Amino acid sequence: MLLFLCIYFFFPEHFNSIVHMAEELHLASTTNKKELYESLLPQLQSLIEPETNLIANLANVSAALKQTFNWWWVGFYWVEENELVLGPFQGPIACTRIAMNRGVCGSAWAEKRTLIVPNVHEFPGHIACSAASNSEIVVPILKNNVVLGVLDCDSEHFNHFDAVDQIFLEKIGELIAAKA
Ligand code: SME
Repeated sequence: MLLFLCIYFFFPEHFNSIVHMAEELHLASTTNKKELYESLLPQLQSLIEPETNLIANLANVSAALKQTFNWWWVGFYWVEENELVLGPFQGPIACTRIAMNRGVCGSAWAEKRTLIVPNVHEFPGHIACSAASNSEIVVPILKNNVVLGVLDCDSEHFNHFDAVDQIFLEKIGELIAAKA
């Protein structure tokens, strides 16, 4: 107890992160996707807001999305020089590097816009990290009109992602960009 009081008075920023470590995700008791996102968004905001470390934030966002929606694969690729490099994710192991304009991720990067792919097998140049993935959404994380990275979500179901996912995943992207 004394230790906590000392940390609180002398290192308030560390106290904050200790308190946040104990947080749990509270999922809305609904299967409605919009309601799930609406309950998730403020929780992600409180997770991301006090944390300055990018990897910590990307890791928690991937975990929270996996826990909420249980997609096949969800995670980040981050721009490093002229490639996208695999970042924090949840799901099976994945390709580590993607060039600009390659696959869905490289195309979303080049076009600076969200791509929703109802059937990945019909997407020219799709990179099949996993044969189980059938549909995908890739959201670029933009700051000052520069792509910092992409958020990639894969489903084993066809036609799984829609405009609702796009709206909320882009909001999540904005939260991340604000701290990046
Ligand atoms: N399918 C992606 C590659 C990344 S994995 O899905 C994790 C693409 O075509 O860019």
